[in-house]
Amino acid sequence: MSVMPVVGIDDLAIYVPKLYLDYKDFAEARGIDPQKLEYGIGIKKMAIADTNQDSACMAANACLKLMQKNHLHPEDIGRVYVATESSLDESKAMNSFVIGMLEQIYGEGSFEHAGGIECKFACVSGSYALYDNANWIRAEENNGKAAIVIVSDIAKYDMGSTGEYTQGAGAVALLIRENPRLMAYDPKVPSTTIKNEYDFYRPFGKETPLVNGSYSNLLYLISVRKAFDLYKEKAIKTGLIKLKDGESITDHIDYFAVHLPYRKMGEKALAYLLRHEWRHLPRWKHVIKEIGMQEPQPKDPRGTIESILADTEFMKADEQFRRAFMQTSFYNEVYEKKMASSLEASAIIGNLYTASMYMGLRSLLEFEFKKGIDLEGKRIGFGSYGSGSSAMVFSGIIQPQYKEVVSKMNLDEDIGPRQKLSMEEYERLHRNERTFKDSVIRAHKEFVLVRLGGNTADKAGFR
Ligand code: HMG
Repeated sequence: MSVMPVVGIDDLAIYVPKLYLDYKDFAEARGIDPQKLEYGIGIKKMAIADTNQDSACMAANACLKLMQKNHLHPEDIGRVYVATESSLDESKAMNSFVIGMLEQIYGEGSFEHAGGIECKFACVSGSYALYDNANWIRAEENNGKAAIVIVSDIAKYDMGSTGEYTQGAGAVALLIRENPRLMAYDPKVPSTTIKNEYDFYRPFGKETPLVNGSYSNLLYLISVRKAFDLYKEKAIKTGLIKLKDGESITDHIDYFAVHLPYRKMGEKALAYLLRHEWRHLPRWKHVIKEIGMQEPQPKDPRGTIESILADTEFMKADEQFRRAFMQTSFYNEVYEKKMASSLEASAIIGNLYTASMYMGLRSLLEFEFKKGIDLEGKRIGFGSYGSGSSAMVFSGIIQPQYKEVVSKMNLDEDIGPRQKLSMEEYERLHRNERTFKDSVIRAHKEFVLVRLGGNTADKAGFR
């Protein structure tokens, strides 16, 4: 019997637009307490795309960076996937636009031997794309070639809505190959859930989504928890994780990287998961003692999300309990050790939809490494969520060669110098009042839109 190849993420590259909105300016203009944005949501700067950028340009920029820094040529790549919810065409896939741009550098037809599709399922699709490509390599159908998965999005909400302070934009390109330097996937354990939901969606032709904010928050938590339960079952069954009495599976996961629509959501997701996992363990009585109150129960524990949200007495008590739990030494120890570093980038970039969790991974690796921690052999547990809705939980182990990649990571340098937008400039951009010719800043060695008409690949140029 042949041994299954070790496959995972070898390297990643990011692209973040050079414009941003400062939370204090935003709070003042909208009459919101800035403390709500800084601490309640966890945002300081939101990346905003310029008029000469779309999600395909950002994807191509991230991909080019990844290829250049790894001295890759198109013949080294067998697949280029793009996962996005900022699609440009109902039928032409975004990866074809991206390849069109890359051909300007590498020559026409240079990727003709490769394959790939555009994937859509709100923010979770990048995780499905990674999973499919890892399996393509495991199946040894790759002929020695690597796969690139790009996650790229512009998160734009209605002006004046509560979603407006969870905007952002950017792309992450991930290199998937055998014997990866960064992280090898744990095989046989990825787990998913899927359900027809309307927590967040964007009908055809509409630029901004329709959102049920509180519903989406709770659905995210429940969906990831359910996928985590399935992951746990598989991890125990396959012997990947062996639980001793009184242990939680969360004790066997060294880091958590979850979908980050905003920083605070990561913190809440960790709290929800720990509560769920620890509730039946001996340590819970010590947690309860520190909190000083019992965990509230909904009137109908098997009720729907609507009925739980409508149970206002429970919701109020549960919020109070959750906040108190997040103040405990138990939560804070796990949070500081296993999650905080993954949230750094989110606070200065914002929601990147498909790219959010992978920007979180990048943030986690860089900031933990900078603390001087040896990351080799550490397990990262991922909680990916996409509205509509589907969750995917999987894990991976940081590989011995990670230092080669991580020691060169510098988020500030990678983002590059950014220009702060005034609220007036931001609102003009939001209303699409400027054209691509009238961009706020000039392009610097990157793909941008340079012509009108045709498709993005024809319109984009390297400037
Ligand atoms: P909101 O109305 O701002 O919520 O909407 P809030 O009033 O509950 O306030 C948020 C937090 O700020 C609370 O903290 C407040 O206490 C706190 P918490 O109770 O949670 O700990 N706060 C303050 N803190 C300090 N000082 C103050 C203050 N005032 C209040 N003065 C919401 C928030 C996220 C719902 C909204 O921004 C929204 O609708 N966003 C868009 C949807 C979204 O991001 N949903 C997340 C889950 S779904 C998902 O992640 C998928 C998604 O990425 C799409 C995809 O999959 O494609 C969205």
